[in-house]
Amino acid sequence: MIDFLTKMPKAELHLHIEGSLEPELMFELAQRNNLPLPYADLEAVRQAYQFGNLQDFLDIYYASAAVLITEQDFYDLTWAYLKKCAEQSVLHSEIFFDPQTHTQRGISFATVINGISRALADAKAQLGISSLLIMCFLRHLSAEEAMQILVEASPYKAQLAGVGLDSSELGHPPEKFTEVFEMAAEMGLPAVAHAGEEGPAEYIWNALNLLKVRRIDHGVRCVEDAELVAVLKEKQIPLTVCPLSNTKLKVFQDMSEHNILDLLEQGVNVTVNSDDPAYFGGYVNENFIALFEALSMSRAQAVKLAQNSFKASFLPQQEKQALL
Ligand code: ADE
Ligand code: ZN
Repeated sequence: MIDFLTKMPKAELHLHIEGSLEPELMFELAQRNNLPLPYADLEAVRQAYQFGNLQDFLDIYYASAAVLITEQDFYDLTWAYLKKCAEQSVLHSEIFFDPQTHTQRGISFATVINGISRALADAKAQLGISSLLIMCFLRHLSAEEAMQILVEASPYKAQLAGVGLDSSELGHPPEKFTEVFEMAAEMGLPAVAHAGEEGPAEYIWNALNLLKVRRIDHGVRCVEDAELVAVLKEKQIPLTVCPLSNTKLKVFQDMSEHNILDLLEQGVNVTVNSDDPAYFGGYVNENFIALFEALSMSRAQAVKLAQNSFKASFLPQQEKQALL
């Protein structure tokens, strides 16, 4: 079964490129850029990667992203992730990036997007992996700052497949960003948003109704509202679920409690993703394997989850069909 899961063609739709920064590359970039790190060695990093909730993780994740300085750094980060995709039978990936994490530190938008985009082009040419880029707004910052980054991104619109919303969920509901998402829609950018990870079902409703998102990232708390589950099912709104992330951040205390297969059996359009693989103990295949080991996921369920991942992608219909 593990061999089957590893070789099964799949797409990944919920991956933060900054969350794919492995400790080894973090040390290499810190050295290259002459920057201090709060860790003596790799063992100290492993010790630090224990989180009680989303915010515990985000504090460490933003601090680590500070080693990314040059265009080459962003290239190396992205290329390392895409090589993993090749090893894991990920044929297509939709990649989140958080430009504000970098522009706030004085790194230009161009440095970030040019480094990432060059790696995406090389992966298409050399590895045959297709990818799309989704720009996320940091929801702990203001709507004005989100609007500013959207304006700054507008010359690069052709390189973006959509916009998203991430970072600290509780206290930063979707409606804070209604105008920003209206502006993105006017620019022709489709939307997704993190909702129902730590936040309540109401955040999922508002992401759908106010931000007009096409997919919900995480969304696992939808089960607290039966009417919402019915709408997600009826409209086949995809949920990009991240099992290892959810257990590492204590959304579920144990993988045996995870609801992804229940949702799948109810007919909800769920997919499996890694979120921040360098922090949560694995890439997309390790997430599939965890579902097999803790929840006895069947082969048929795994295949359905993989099919969902292609169907839920932002690829044009023809390209989707070619991968299915
Ligand atoms: N940024 C990176 N990973 C995230 C997550 N799981 N939730 C919210 N924001 C994030
Ligand atoms: Zn995420």
